[in-house]
Amino acid sequence: MAKRYKWGILAPGRMAVKFANGLKAAENAELYAVGSRDEGRAKRFAEEHGFRKYYGTYEDLARDPEVDVIYIASPHSEHYEQTLLCLRNKKAVLCEKAFSLNGREVNEMIEEARRNDVFLMEALWPPFQPFYKKAHEILGSGILGDIINMHSWFSFIPPYDPVDRKFNISLGGGSLLDIGIYPVIDALTFLGIPDEVKAYAAFGQTGSEESINAILKYPSGKLASVYSSFRTNNGIGCDLFCEKGNLTVSRGRDMNQRLILELHGKEKETFVFTPPALGYHWEAEEVMNCLDKQLKESPAVPLSFSAGLIKTLDRIRASAGIVFPGRD
Ligand SMILES: NC(=O)c1ccc[n+]([C@@H]2O[C@H](COP(=O)([O-])OP(=O)(O)OC[C@H]3O[C@@H](n4cnc5c(N)ncnc54)[C@H](OP(=O)(O)O)[C@@H]3O)[C@@H](O)[C@H]2O)c1
Repeated sequence: MAKRYKWGILAPGRMAVKFANGLKAAENAELYAVGSRDEGRAKRFAEEHGFRKYYGTYEDLARDPEVDVIYIASPHSEHYEQTLLCLRNKKAVLCEKAFSLNGREVNEMIEEARRNDVFLMEALWPPFQPFYKKAHEILGSGILGDIINMHSWFSFIPPYDPVDRKFNISLGGGSLLDIGIYPVIDALTFLGIPDEVKAYAAFGQTGSEESINAILKYPSGKLASVYSSFRTNNGIGCDLFCEKGNLTVSRGRDMNQRLILELHGKEKETFVFTPPALGYHWEAEEVMNCLDKQLKESPAVPLSFSAGLIKTLDRIRASAGIVFPGRD
């Protein structure tokens, strides 16, 4: 019989609600414990979502000997310390993106996982989504030839709140780590690690970046442009311009996932996917499949990918002049 894994949720905020719903749909996941900085919040979240235990400190959650795996859903600035805490208590960790604020911290998290021989994965959404898998299939078939150029974007307009993690520099605020990470994931997935990076950002009242454009340059002249912003609202997507045609991969406000394949000289073909849920259960299932196999990292989201991702984000920040004080 398949092992059931006892999940702990660390930091029961907005994203934790979505992930808890994902866990309910994941086979072999037991909603076990919640850890918050505030015991009342932990209790309310546990009761609302059906977790058996709750703790008023993250340390108590990490020390519970029954917990198998902890999902970290705090602001970006907190991931580093909390991941180390969980790994040192020998808990498998699924930590939200961005993995941390800079490459040095992410490298230490990876080293700590290896030192403790414990599973670690960044909670990246795209690799498990149907539109992303279909894009890989189409590109892998060779019908489009090489990708020559790509443009990838994610923007939406959140309510302005200077203390919210999106606008608060001390919490890793700015569009880049929150949503710009997705266009960068596209570029790394489809073209790899760039040779050169140039970026420009627009900053808001708190000093946090609110809009950014970056150009990533690859060998043989391939280019990717990436855009993220809290000042426009155009959803998430990616145009891949290839030798023999184009492919657009996007998710609109209706949450439907669309691919438009346009081969030169042929009619456009559209594929639409309507996943039954946001799809976070796929990330949880990936973690449990890896634990079943005693893997220490996920083949779908390897730690080398996370290391390359944060390194690229660091280069974009350096070019655009985005600084996280005391954490660069
Ligand atoms: N994968 C996705 O699709 C997706 C979507 C949205 C967000 N995310 C990621 O999920 C993470 C959390 O985002 P969120 O919007 O859920 O954040 P949030 O609601 O602002 O905060 C989450 C929780 O973090 C805890 N926390 C710990 N230290 C904190 C501090 N110094 N300031 C504020 N809160 C602190 C708080 O819980 P307690 O105080 O109760 O412990 C808070 O409720 C981020 O990494 C974000 O990028 C991912």
